[in-house]
Amino acid sequence: MNVKKFIETQVEEIRKTVGDGKAISALSGGVDSSACTVLAHRALGPKLKSIFFDTGLMRAGEPAEVVKVFAGLGIDVEIADKSQEFFTSLAGKTDPEEKRKAFRYTFYSAFGREVLKSKARYLVQGTIAADIIETQKGLKTQHNILEQIGIDPDEGFGFKVVEPLKELFKHEVRLVAKELGLPESIYARMPFPGPALATRVIGEVTPERVALVRAATVIVEEEIAALKPFQAFAVLLNDKGTGVIDGKRAFGNIIIIRSVESRDAMTAEPTAVPFDVLIKMAKRITAEIPEVTRVAYELTAKPPATIEYI
Ligand code: XMP
Repeated sequence: MNVKKFIETQVEEIRKTVGDGKAISALSGGVDSSACTVLAHRALGPKLKSIFFDTGLMRAGEPAEVVKVFAGLGIDVEIADKSQEFFTSLAGKTDPEEKRKAFRYTFYSAFGREVLKSKARYLVQGTIAADIIETQKGLKTQHNILEQIGIDPDEGFGFKVVEPLKELFKHEVRLVAKELGLPESIYARMPFPGPALATRVIGEVTPERVALVRAATVIVEEEIAALKPFQAFAVLLNDKGTGVIDGKRAFGNIIIIRSVESRDAMTAEPTAVPFDVLIKMAKRITAEIPEVTRVAYELTAKPPATIEYI
């Protein structure tokens, strides 16, 4: 792949598509939407507005970090707090696909309102090839797939979608992101799904349960960083397990640690995490998050498991 040529072509393409109009970039701070935002900013300059939706489902410190990185690149990012809306749409839902569809609907209807407010016509988003393939295969309802499965975004939500990265796989997007001048903290970042921590909370997604998995995620990311896995995170199960806290029996939460190696996320193998690292994570999680009484490590490859839990 000729990265420089790809960037030139896409910048030109975005310029042609959007014309005199305005566009909004849906930025999450992941490598895909970050690369997409820089491409669109090069093409459109002030005709592009970049919005980060704070869904209430992001990792610790994420919104502020994204604003800081993009400020360094001369790109203003507006943070829109949509957490109430997302939690309301997810309340009471436990079925994985129902949760994904609720997230997708809230995501696009909220962006539809932003597009309308800004008098824009286009939403630029970082859909990549694997997202499309897996959604079309019916493996999961990826949050950012509409047209490819027959949903017209213009009819449903009032905007057209621009997807400059839709033919690339993750490792190619990283090359593009690097060439665009994004820092290593972004171009080498672990993939993180659009529906964010909602994909890692089994059962109902509530602010309390998200806070718990968020705290465990910080510990997993810190302790596993040196191993540089393709992706590593914590998952909160819906079941509970008996434990002992302060000498008393407690029926506490169960956290699963998942870490995988992969090239394109289409298949994956569990990371061979050294036992002492696993033990340290388990000790820290139970010590720092008292509601958790058990921690386990996930050993399943993809297939048959997927990387995320919903
Ligand atoms: P799975 O769980 O299907 O995930 O093995 C494959 C890769 O895709 C990420 N993923 C998503 N990314 N929106 C995204 O932007 C989504 O809805 C979504 N679901 C999963 C996942 O983190 C992994 O890297």
